[in-house]
Amino acid sequence: MLLEDNVGIIPPYQTSVWAYNGMVPGPVIRIKLGETLQLKLTNNLPQATTIHWHGVRVPNAMDGVPGVTQPPVQPGESFTYQFTPKDAGTFWFHPHVKAAEQIERGLHGVLIVEDAEEPEYSQEFVWVLDDWLLTKDRQVATNFVSRHDLAHDGRWGNVLTINGRYQPAFQVKAGERIRIRMVNVANGRVFSPSFAKLVPYVIAVDGMLAEAPFPLREFYLAPGNRIDLDIIIPKAFAGKSLSVQNLYGRKKSALAFLQVAAEEAVETPGFDSPRARQFPRWADAIKLPIEHEYILNAKRGGVYGISWTIDNKTWPDNATHELTSGQFYRLRFTNKSSRLHPMHLHGQFFKVIAKNGRAVQENFWRDTVLIGPKQSIDIGLIPLDKGLWLNHCHILEHAEAGMMTVINVN
Ligand code: C2O
Ligand code: CU
Repeated sequence: MLLEDNVGIIPPYQTSVWAYNGMVPGPVIRIKLGETLQLKLTNNLPQATTIHWHGVRVPNAMDGVPGVTQPPVQPGESFTYQFTPKDAGTFWFHPHVKAAEQIERGLHGVLIVEDAEEPEYSQEFVWVLDDWLLTKDRQVATNFVSRHDLAHDGRWGNVLTINGRYQPAFQVKAGERIRIRMVNVANGRVFSPSFAKLVPYVIAVDGMLAEAPFPLREFYLAPGNRIDLDIIIPKAFAGKSLSVQNLYGRKKSALAFLQVAAEEAVETPGFDSPRARQFPRWADAIKLPIEHEYILNAKRGGVYGISWTIDNKTWPDNATHELTSGQFYRLRFTNKSSRLHPMHLHGQFFKVIAKNGRAVQENFWRDTVLIGPKQSIDIGLIPLDKGLWLNHCHILEHAEAGMMTVINVN
């Protein structure tokens, strides 16, 4: 029997998980831009797996997609990933085999690629946002890809955690300027973090610096998304406990606390927030013809009884779209359903240029964009890296039930 949201269960629990190197979340891997990452995956799981480097522009063969870029790594086997990231930023990694089960059980980690020079924040935090669907005996419910999950926005858990802990407290000092790298690794839940009286600035989305930092207001951090925040702890807040809330959904809930030390305030570092170079002008992008409109919808049937489709077909029956590298494309996602679909494109960054056909300006790149019920979103894309790149819903149950296709960049 499943528990209601946070009712009557007081963490911490002893919950069995699947883990990278015995830890949940998995290790935070930090390298410098220009360095090569070499990582050997040894599969001690009872099922095949791979590692996908979400948001990282890797050579296609390192993308970790079973049957597309590599054979799945069978139990007892190993595979070595090796690549040199092209971008600095906050990325993450996770399996791409039975992801709805493997990620939910705890297989995910963060990859931070540091720029040659990084601003000197007083402290930097990595916050891995997740939710867990636990049973009464506090174990991961094993009804993965259930009919309920498929009829809704995937699997939403009953315990929200940051770095695997329930409502953790983070120690800061008044006057400090902190950076928080936030990653949403949940199967289906969207977070909308709010810092009450603090005014965080978003400096990066999906790893890439924004053209200009912007205040965090209502930002939907969908599964797969990352944001980097720049936050000054006001000197007057010494001794206070500040709560960080999740405002998405019907009930708001506390995610974490920032515990401000009672001691005297420290000097606030005075650098300019990092920002991207000015983007090329995208204003005319909206005038270009739509290269392809992806229709997102559900239908009856398939292995799970409910299938999630792109252009009325499930993976791998839908068509591969051929794109030419270096060319500009306008693509449209049209959500005919009343559920959420955070669409993620492997190996590419894109800009949202229209919502419901009306031009919008976002001053940052993305690799994942949330398409709301009955909404359409146009993205502008200049594919750069050649190969077969997946285009799928990051609600892992939707992807598992077919909502996945591929682009071939030539
Ligand atoms: Cu994190 Cu195919 O995705
Ligand atoms: Cu979806």
